[in-house]
Amino acid sequence: MSESGRLRIAVQKSGRLSDDSIALLKAIGIKLNIRDRLLIAHSTNQPIDLLRVRDDDIPGLVMDGVVDIGFIGENELEEKMLERQAANKPSEFEVLRRLDYGGCRLSIAVPKEASYTGIGSLEKKRVATTYPYLLERYFAEQKVNAKAVMLTGSVEVAPRAGVADAICDLVSTGATLEANGLVEKDVIFRSKAVLIQRADGELSDAKSTLINRLIPRIDGVMQAKE
Ligand code: PRP
Ligand code: ZN
Ligand code: MG
Repeated sequence: MSESGRLRIAVQKSGRLSDDSIALLKAIGIKLNIRDRLLIAHSTNQPIDLLRVRDDDIPGLVMDGVVDIGFIGENELEEKMLERQAANKPSEFEVLRRLDYGGCRLSIAVPKEASYTGIGSLEKKRVATTYPYLLERYFAEQKVNAKAVMLTGSVEVAPRAGVADAICDLVSTGATLEANGLVEKDVIFRSKAVLIQRADGELSDAKSTLINRLIPRIDGVMQAKE
């Protein structure tokens, strides 16, 4: 990978964190010329390049040192960390700041007609999720023998489709569960957006200096909103 000297920041291209992350970068004075089709946006007033990618890719891009910092949900970060640890891939990173947006929870939900008296009700059942590592860790902690069924999308339709007995998915307003006849039962992980940095100590002095100038501005923006 070539070191361009410009700070590389990864943000989600489209999804729950995109708008707030871009708004935060603008609020701290970074001018961005974002064109929708393009993966990279160059700042016009700072030595910064923005990489707009799927959120699933952001933890790996930071951990592999392809980008310097990234905005990511803790749910996705923790899942990818567990996945990479299992595969013996680099999984180091540093949390620069926990942010004040992107709040959601990862919850187990069941069809409203299902009888559920606790996590033990899932014994020998199939649970559809996009977060198999977080879910299987929870099953292990709770000593429940259930099976995580990996789906990358449309998790909420899995019970109706007969693919699973329950789901484990992100909930923020609860509208998706409601619309699909599902009831939230157990919260297994609470998440917010975080700003993370690669932890391999390979950042140039110039990049470290720039990051150290940006962080207090982020704190200022968050304080102003309180
Ligand atoms: C998550 C989750 C639900 C929805 C829940 O999807 O998979 O579909 O948000 O939010 P609600 O409680 O406000 O209805 P996300 O927006 O992350 O997109 P994805 O399913 O395409 O990954
Ligand atoms: Zn995603
Ligand atoms: Mg969804």
